[in-house]
Amino acid sequence: MEKMPFRDAEVIMDVNAVIHDARFVTTETDWRQALPVLTGTLVTLRELRLSDAPSLLSMLATEEVARFISPPPTTVDGFERFIAWTHRERAAGNYVCFGVVPHGMDTAIGIFQVRQLEPGFATAEWGFAIGSAFWGTGIFTDGAKLTIDFAFNVVGTHRLEARAAVANGRGNGALRKIGALQEGVLRKSFLRNGEYLDQALWTILDEDWRRAKSVWGPRVH
Ligand SMILES: CC(C)(COP(=O)(O)OP(=O)(O)OC[C@H]1O[C@@H](n2cnc3c(N)ncnc32)[C@H](O)[C@@H]1OP(=O)(O)O)[C@@H](O)C(=O)NCCC(=O)NCCS
Repeated sequence: MEKMPFRDAEVIMDVNAVIHDARFVTTETDWRQALPVLTGTLVTLRELRLSDAPSLLSMLATEEVARFISPPPTTVDGFERFIAWTHRERAAGNYVCFGVVPHGMDTAIGIFQVRQLEPGFATAEWGFAIGSAFWGTGIFTDGAKLTIDFAFNVVGTHRLEARAAVANGRGNGALRKIGALQEGVLRKSFLRNGEYLDQALWTILDEDWRRAKSVWGPRVH
């Protein structure tokens, strides 16, 4: 059990808040030790393994995938170091990275990441990249639903942000499709290949997600 960050009688007034906190401390401890395996219709999301490095290199280090995201590693060694880093950051409670494994395959063909923007993940940012051979297959939607559910139901996020370069048609299309709301444009906020790009800021709130799910049922179109 984590030490409480501060001991002010005022913050322990609301019994519900204390119960709420206790629930999240417990689940938070669990995912810090090891990520769960999440099973969707088309894919499984699981912790990355060092053996995913060659597959991730061939899937993500291509021009079309990397064009609008922070440059991925360019070698198998580089991806192994990235994977080891994801494990350390997960253990530290700062970040989670799921590998996307299509049913019938053994290795990851993409990733979904969530990082805290404030301690405790109440506001968090997610990002994703999938090998282009799997674009337009429904894998994004399947993995996105699992990741968003995990952030809201397990990690305790209430506001999930995403940034996508305005010029990234598929990235913005994917976010719109999953039900994110575009709040604005962050002008010249992302340096890529020596050029500052505008990014769209997309958000999903936990209450919107739960409402949408109750209307749509388990499927998101
Ligand atoms: C972002 C990514 C994971 C989405 O996966 P995907 O399989 O391509 O996504 P989908 O095909 O399910 O959805 C994309 C939507 O955008 C639409 N779209 C494609 N090009 C578009 C464009 N130029 N403008 C607007 N919408 C576009 C597609 O038609 C699709 O909507 P539809 O299913 O209603 O037709 C994938 O494209 C990827 O890995 N891109 C490279 C990495 C990246 O840019 N990550 C995002 C950082 S925010």
